Amino acid sequence: MVAAVRSAMPEAAGLYPPTVVPPEQPLPFARFILQFIKNPLLTIARPVYDEGLLVRDNGRRIVAYVTSPTLLEQVLLKDAETFHKSPIEKRIFRNTLGDGILTSQGASWKWQRRTAAPLFRVSDLNALVPMMTAEGEAQARRWAATPAGSMHAIDADMTETTFRVISSTMFGGKADEDTREILAASDAALESVSWDIAAAIMRLPDWLWYPGKHTRRNAGRTLRALTAKMLTRRRETGIEGPDLMGRLLQARDPETDAPMSDSQLVDNLLTFLGAGHETTAKALTWSLYLLARAPEWQDKIAAEVQAVCGDAPIGAEHLDRLEVTRAVFKEAMRLYPPAPMMNRLLAEPTMLGGRQMPAGTFIVIPVYAIHRHRRLWQDPDRFDPTRFTKENEARHARTQFMPFGFGPRTCIGMSFAMMEGVAILGTVVRRARFEWDGKHLPEPLSRITLRPKGGMPLKVSPRAA
Ligand code: HEM
Repeated sequence: MVAAVRSAMPEAAGLYPPTVVPPEQPLPFARFILQFIKNPLLTIARPVYDEGLLVRDNGRRIVAYVTSPTLLEQVLLKDAETFHKSPIEKRIFRNTLGDGILTSQGASWKWQRRTAAPLFRVSDLNALVPMMTAEGEAQARRWAATPAGSMHAIDADMTETTFRVISSTMFGGKADEDTREILAASDAALESVSWDIAAAIMRLPDWLWYPGKHTRRNAGRTLRALTAKMLTRRRETGIEGPDLMGRLLQARDPETDAPMSDSQLVDNLLTFLGAGHETTAKALTWSLYLLARAPEWQDKIAAEVQAVCGDAPIGAEHLDRLEVTRAVFKEAMRLYPPAPMMNRLLAEPTMLGGRQMPAGTFIVIPVYAIHRHRRLWQDPDRFDPTRFTKENEARHARTQFMPFGFGPRTCIGMSFAMMEGVAILGTVVRRARFEWDGKHLPEPLSRITLRPKGGMPLKVSPRAA
């Protein structure tokens, strides 16, 4: 039996934070399913980290793992119309995100994307940075109110912080009232998601029971009901406004001129609420873990923030110059991509990597393995933020680092998330020190987002001015 987590090499060799031990060869189907339920990352075989394309026939369908930058450009950009969002994704999200922007395809997706896109113009996002920084400051104050050196659940703290950011910036604060309930239901929905995905891979009939099925259904119902309640509250206070809710409520389908139905509105509001906080929270959580293991980088960030901002709070005008902070945030997303696996389904026969692939081929885009690929990165498991200095970054292929995806379905919130990540990381590190207990080696656990198994306990103390 192999250990699930490979831990640090000798510290003198640099920081090699926890990763998973891949199987030497692709797993047979039954073993694949068992491991997938435990942690989908344990099903990515070692050759996927070495080769550009690995094709398997598992007896039920052809599965292609794509990691070569050129082939990724084909799948996600050049032939994006042929590589559809997969029905597996649709099935697992049908009770929560329905047919919103993340899961829809074709004309329905285009309309929804066009409606939301103006909210994410960088020039407009700049105005939101003070709210992001303010939530980072509020979190630092909550830590400062506890004794120096006390242990905190950093994953829960970062989830709450990023949830407050999305609520205040996109929902006019309308989600705050139900924060606890929404976070608990989201957590329940994600915790048991691997069973749902495994059921979809095995094409189990809908009526069949499997662990977590009812929990996930109930969590989905709760989330939709709370979102519908938010919508009602908004209608009572007026639907106009330049925020996300205002835009969606006033949008019209270009073909039919119909407004979004209540169900479509809930699909989208829930998508933005979920996608807009959980991923950034995980990126920040892993960033703070790495910083606790490499404290010299905390000092570099604190010094950079002091040099760029003086005593002022981090604002939009500072972000470009916070280069070290951004490099650490990116390196954390390389080692621990918040969305570690993506997938597509081939809609028609297509040549891929010199091979003819039949329609129905299931495409796995293992972002986790792409970010640690032996041919793309030097010493890939080592924490080294200098990979993301401007000079070094220019040498990367466009699809070698892609925490936000690539092509037309790229994360709509990418700029928002980068601003938020840098503003919050810079803020909490200038205010506090984060310390590792010397023991916790959290396994990166894929549950749609990349969670630290066993949570993320770290000691927090105020940083002396
Ligand atoms: C570090 C933070 C984030 C990461 C790593 C991330 C990652 C991703 C990835 C990989 C995709 C593409 C999925 C695919 O192609 O299959 C995606 C799509 C999406 N993300 Fe993000 N995301 C982040 C933050 C955000 C934020 C802050 C928002 C909103 C405020 C957001 C909203 C969305 C939406 C709506 C989509 C669907 C876009 C479409 O299909 O047109 N994300 N995200």
